[in-house]
Amino acid sequence: MTIRLPLLIALAAIGSLAPLAAAVAQPAPATPNPAPAPPKPRSAGEAVFLDKCRYCHVEMGPGTLTLAKRLGPENGLLAARPDLDAGYVKAVVRNGLNTMPPINRVEVSDAELDTIATWLATHNKGRKPAAKPAKKR
Ligand code: HEC
Repeated sequence: MTIRLPLLIALAAIGSLAPLAAAVAQPAPATPNPAPAPPKPRSAGEAVFLDKCRYCHVEMGPGTLTLAKRLGPENGLLAARPDLDAGYVKAVVRNGLNTMPPINRVEVSDAELDTIATWLATHNKGRKPAAKPAKKR
C-alpha cells in the first residue's frame, strides 16, 4: 500500500474514513495470555524425549517429583542426569517402574526408544554426577 497515513487522516477529516483511519493509527492489541514458547530441542534425541516423556519428566512432573523424593532432588530431572544407562532406560520404559506405567511399542517405537535412551545416557557424559545431599540427622 502506498497510501500514507497523513493522506488517510486527511480523508478521515472529510468524513467517511474516520473508523478506518482510527484502525490504522491504533497499534495492534497485545495478544491476551500468549502461550509460553515451548523449549527448543537441541538434538533429535532431546526432541523425541520431549515428545514422549515430557508429560511426566518435566520440572514438577510426577516422574520428576517421585524421583526427587526417592533419589534426592538432584536426581529428579531425567534430562539432567549424567548417570543413566541406555539399557536401564529401555527396561524401565518397557516394564514400568512403581508408578511409571510401561510404555508399549505403539506409543514409543523401538527406534524412538533407542534414540531417547542413547540421548539420556550420553548427552550429560563428562558432567560429574550430582553430589549426594548431606545426610539428614
Ligand atoms: C505417566 C507418567 C510418565 C511417563 C509418560 C514417563 N515416565 Fe518415566 N517415570 C515416571 C515416574 C512416576 C517415575 C518414578 C518411578 C519411581 O521411582 O517410583 C519414572 C521413572 C523413570 C525412570 C527411572 C529413573 C531412575 O533413576 O530410576 C526412567 C529411566 C524413566 N522414567 C524414563 C522414562 C522415559 C524415557 C519416558 C518416555 C519414553 C518416560 N519415563 C515417560 C512417570 C512417567
